Amino acid sequence: MEKLLVAGGKPLRGTVPISGAKNSAVALIPAAILAESTVILDNLPALSDVETYMTLLGELGAVVSRQGDQMTIDPSAVRSAPMPNGNVKKLRASYYLMGALLGRFGEAVIGLPGGCNFEPRPIDQHIKGFEALGARVSNEYGAIHIRASKLKGAKIYLDVVSVGATINIMLAATRASGITIIENAAKEPEIIDVATLLNAMGAKIKGAGTETIRIEGVDSLSGCRHSIIPDRIQAATYMIAAAATRGDVTVDCVIPKHLEAVTAKLQEMGVHIYEMDESIRVVGQRDYESIDVKALVYPGFATDIQSPMISLLTQTNGISLLTDYVYSNRFSHIPELQRMGARIKVEGRSAIIEGSRLNAAKVRATDLRAGASLVVAGLAVPDGVTEISGVEFIDRGYDRLVANLTELGAEIWREKE
Ligand code: EPU
Repeated sequence: MEKLLVAGGKPLRGTVPISGAKNSAVALIPAAILAESTVILDNLPALSDVETYMTLLGELGAVVSRQGDQMTIDPSAVRSAPMPNGNVKKLRASYYLMGALLGRFGEAVIGLPGGCNFEPRPIDQHIKGFEALGARVSNEYGAIHIRASKLKGAKIYLDVVSVGATINIMLAATRASGITIIENAAKEPEIIDVATLLNAMGAKIKGAGTETIRIEGVDSLSGCRHSIIPDRIQAATYMIAAAATRGDVTVDCVIPKHLEAVTAKLQEMGVHIYEMDESIRVVGQRDYESIDVKALVYPGFATDIQSPMISLLTQTNGISLLTDYVYSNRFSHIPELQRMGARIKVEGRSAIIEGSRLNAAKVRATDLRAGASLVVAGLAVPDGVTEISGVEFIDRGYDRLVANLTELGAEIWREKE
């Protein structure tokens, strides 16, 4: 086990290139098994969740290799093996194997997914979708058994806007017979990325990125080459860290449109932002206004960014309110921030954040974005070294974090616990 040490008080300065999106990668990798020939993914992030997915595909018979930021997946020998335990429990996105295996083989047996369990994360909408497509679904001793003699297109209305359910139904429906319509679909950029890959493989998907997605099933899919979109959550984290340290940072290789909600909120606080074609420059200021933030589904302010945003909101001159409308209790970072001197109260699904001076402390990350929040807070502390344990959570979603921050002038390093 390792811990992260952050000596605060250094304004971040420079340019940071942003890698491919984790939440796309962990859907694109399983999507590749729907094809019958080789899929190449470029701009792959170097993350532990991606490594776990490589192993999972190998266990199913795929030949997977990685050269730098490129992954080659030959799915021709994949079979539908039961995966009740082991690596599937290590990450949340293993649930995409349900849709992919169901689409390709008409059956899947998979353990309930693990990952960042910051609160109960049901998969009832995924199951509703599979059942609508004609599958029988049962939970036997903690493993989900999904079987269909024939998958048939259907009209599916999602009761909640869910990224995972939208992608999972899209995966299965791609090889169903007839037309599937997903209503009240999620609109996140990662959904468009998955649809782009599937269409390049020969699928017929229209409407990804809107609330209605139409999928005309096809008999077979073949390999292709695809470049993963930039990670908007990593980019937003560096933007927030730049503002929190009163630095001057350009996040490069990004799609500025994906970051509009964050840009707008930072500007409202008084941060100076300059948008270019594929980069955004963030210039921090000494004084910030307090603001209200609502975490919503895309194109709203992402729930994955509320945790680092709360750290930044401790740096304003007033009282800010952040309400998370996606998850009701994703606040495990708050007691840790309180240890660092933050004055924050939680009421229901809202955090009330009073501007305060942070101090260095020993804190623990209990999930990925909570970890990011503590890194931002550690960087914003005027002096002293913050010790963050639970680094394995941060490694799931931030590649080259220490190297990137060091290049931006931060004093941050890892040590054995
Ligand atoms: N929900 C249901 N039933 C379902 C599915 C979801 O009630 O069947 C609820 C959830 O409890 C939640 C809301 O719907 O309140 C949205 O959940 P969603 O399904 O969209 O989340 P997810 O697909 O499991 C992905 C990301 C998360 C991100 C959320 C929301 C991946 C692998 N994970 O999760 O990312 O927070 O969408 O945008 O794509 C992270 O990167 O740290 C992370 C947790």
